[in-house]
Amino acid sequence: MIGLFDSGLGGLTVLARVRERLPTADVIFFADQAHVPYGDRTHGDLLRLLRANLARFDEYGVEAVVMACNTSCAIGERYGWPSSRAPVLDLIESAAMAVERSGLRRVGVVATAATVGAGSYGRTLRGRVAGIDVVEVPAPALVPLVESGVVEGDEARAAVAEVCAHLPLDLEAVIFGCTHYPVLEAHFKAVLGRGVALIDPAAMQAQRAAELLGDRVEGSGRTIYVTSGDETAFTAAVARMMGALVST
Ligand code: DGL
Repeated sequence: MIGLFDSGLGGLTVLARVRERLPTADVIFFADQAHVPYGDRTHGDLLRLLRANLARFDEYGVEAVVMACNTSCAIGERYGWPSSRAPVLDLIESAAMAVERSGLRRVGVVATAATVGAGSYGRTLRGRVAGIDVVEVPAPALVPLVESGVVEGDEARAAVAEVCAHLPLDLEAVIFGCTHYPVLEAHFKAVLGRGVALIDPAAMQAQRAAELLGDRVEGSGRTIYVTSGDETAFTAAVARMMGALVST
């Protein structure tokens, strides 16, 4: 059994990629919607939630935690990772590996306020890719839109345009530094144009999960979905989003 968690629905963008790589793995996906958005919380609060989420997976006896929340990874990187019996795959490390492989060196990171505040993307990218230029921009308006299903139309498009207006013009790539944002990818593409590559760390995260678990995966491909929020709304959102994410 593999464990994935996020503050909410964004982690499904990682789950979709993990499912492609590890179709027979049994997965438990936890959405901490009682506390979403994480990105506006204090680091003390976020560290407490990270500790609780890892302890929950220890109780479930997962064999690996595939992080699906950048904000939690940023807190772990900045303030120290709480202990976990299972290995924990850091999503920001995967992002840096994806950037390194891309060969692109002028990158923007859009992320939550807490992730940008922790500075983890800048440190991790500079630690892995010599001479990289990194600009980090917070985008606090986007998570509430995705959580409430407002992902198409003018409101979502305008919110993405507002974020992109804070990015320098000469970027080669923009990294989705929050797992909610790939849901808005079409708007980012429309606003930034074809000259800017969009990097979703989820693909590298799923590849690393497959490398870590390899042939050891024995399961039936079952996914257990758990939320700390409203179960009826969550079940409907999972059905809607996984359909769209897996087919694209
Ligand atoms: N999706 C999460 C991330 O990758 C957290 C978003 C939030 O709750 O603010 O950072």
